[in-house]
Amino acid sequence: MAKEIHELGSLPPLGEVPQKMYAWTIRQERYGEPKEAFQVEKIDVPEIADDEVLVYVMAAGVNYNNVWAALGYPVDVIGARQKAGEKEDFHIGGSDASGIVYKVGRRVTNAHVGDEVVIHCGSWDSQCPSVLKGDDPMYSPTFRIWGYETNYGSFAQFTKVKSFQVLPKPQHLNWEEAAAYMLVGGTAYRMLLGWGEKSLRKNDVALIWGGAGGLGSMAIQIARARGGIPVAVVSDNDKFEYCESLGAKGCINRKDFDHWGMLPHWKDTVGYAKWLKGVRKFGKVLWEVIGEKKNPRLVFEHPGESTIPTSIFVCETGGSVVICAGTTGYNATVDLRYLWMRQKTLQGSHFANAEQAQGFNQLVMEGLVDPCMSKAFKFDDLATSHQLMHENRHPHGNMSVLIGAPDFGMGAIKPKPSITIPALPAPEEYGAWVGKDNKVVPEFTSDEMDIEKTLPVEDTARVADYVHDGLITCNLDTTVEKMAHIMLQHHIRALVVTDNSNKPVGIVSQFDLVLARQGRTSEETKKLSAALVMSPGCVTCDLQTPLSEAITTMTRLRYHRLVVVDNTRPNDPPVGVLAMTDIIKKTLDVNT
Ligand SMILES: NC(=O)c1ccc[n+]([C@@H]2O[C@H](COP(=O)([O-])OP(=O)(O)OC[C@H]3O[C@@H](n4cnc5c(N)ncnc54)[C@H](OP(=O)(O)O)[C@@H]3O)[C@@H](O)[C@H]2O)c1
Repeated sequence: MAKEIHELGSLPPLGEVPQKMYAWTIRQERYGEPKEAFQVEKIDVPEIADDEVLVYVMAAGVNYNNVWAALGYPVDVIGARQKAGEKEDFHIGGSDASGIVYKVGRRVTNAHVGDEVVIHCGSWDSQCPSVLKGDDPMYSPTFRIWGYETNYGSFAQFTKVKSFQVLPKPQHLNWEEAAAYMLVGGTAYRMLLGWGEKSLRKNDVALIWGGAGGLGSMAIQIARARGGIPVAVVSDNDKFEYCESLGAKGCINRKDFDHWGMLPHWKDTVGYAKWLKGVRKFGKVLWEVIGEKKNPRLVFEHPGESTIPTSIFVCETGGSVVICAGTTGYNATVDLRYLWMRQKTLQGSHFANAEQAQGFNQLVMEGLVDPCMSKAFKFDDLATSHQLMHENRHPHGNMSVLIGAPDFGMGAIKPKPSITIPALPAPEEYGAWVGKDNKVVPEFTSDEMDIEKTLPVEDTARVADYVHDGLITCNLDTTVEKMAHIMLQHHIRALVVTDNSNKPVGIVSQFDLVLARQGRTSEETKKLSAALVMSPGCVTCDLQTPLSEAITTMTRLRYHRLVVVDNTRPNDPPVGVLAMTDIIKKTLDVNT
């Protein structure tokens, strides 16, 4: 008779499935920091359906999605599944794994008990009408990320998956290496190669953000394996060597530029011209790295808000910016003129379908892609590994955790194929500048769009000429009633909120007062404090800041006023406010 549970590190006899298993679980009442949210429990081994496979997990990969699952934010994964009819009140996460097949469903033909496998995290219902019709299953309403959107992921001795999720384990990798790569690698593969004629081709340049990160390290290797010319963007020169060792033609340090974030408004000619200067400098360095006046046909995007304007600008005419995340924010701004005039594509992308996961796994099996596993943890440290990720203190590359494997370094049964990075095309094949000495890198332009000819207007006006001297302030406890009196009495539209040491900590505008009224009686509204209704933080500018620059900041952030400081007296309180109203009055010489 099968044992009720097997201790970790001792494999049950092949094909023998115990009743219970050890699992790292998350429960709703523990949502919060991963170090508390994850706990080990004994859970019943799940039953499998006819099209499913039960895998004994040897090692599991660590991904950011289960930091979110632990936090219960932005999605309460347990609540969402219960709403859909599932009964379990716990979540077993884990979207990457290596392991051994222990049981197969009646209709499964592609997997057998004893197979050593890796698992990809794309799960869908093969009977869904859109899948049956032949559409990409990634577009099916039944698509779920296994071990995040579905339960019974890889953070337990057994996991259940759809049979098409299992792929052969590369024999030269140990269990923890094999568990580290599939989620990021499959995602990178689809982004680079999953878009038909828009996919990366031989000799195409691919610009890869976060080249030393999980996705980026995979993207560099895939692009190079397919004959592309990957160029990595990173935040430190120390990462150059790593990216180049993976196959990058060269690297750009993003810290050498300061034009990041939302685009200035297109009517803000000065701000726009300044942005153009920054992005052209970036493009010029890109050409220097490539050694040729050639733009990336594919930009590999995930930072989002901060980098999208640059990605679209430097992308080749007819090329694509493919994006799978918005790590720096979701409100990306696009100058549509570049999209339609230069027929560029902004393409969203999410994980991979089975064919793409297989295609990527093949590259790993051939030794063309290394899993870039930076650190493996013991079973007991699973929560710690997620806590490190949550605190952004995790090492670069990909991490994994031993689940059933008794120790590190086990499971590789063949020698590692030496990673043969395909040669870059010879310079004459892609028309590079010949010889360093003759190299004159031209100014970067995106095919001479007229908008790029906009010249900055020399602006001599300074904030000092427009500042409204003196601040009308209130403190954090001031009531809405009192603030309303001050505003109406002084004919002003906002108050600066200061803390006990007179430091500005926020702004209350008329807008905030009106918003505070929503859902409350006027008596309740009057009593609210500034601390509750203010917009926290104050954007400042210096007395000597050019007025045009201050206007760019205001329009970019949609702020009506900036707090003005005097940088020659850094310890003094702010000296005044620069308000839209004052700029209009002084510029147009209009008095009310
Ligand atoms: N949709 C999907 O299927 C899917 C799949 C996998 C991952 N993702 C998402 O993709 C994102 C990246 O994942 P990952 O595993 O590669 O994470 P990672 O290992 O943390 O790497 C992200 C890289 O982004 C770079 N970066 C950080 N801030 C940046 C900024 N302001 N501007 C430009 N680059 C910046 C960093 O490199 P430098 O500091 O060196 O520039 C970092 O190495 C995450 O949000 C993840 O959730 C989505």
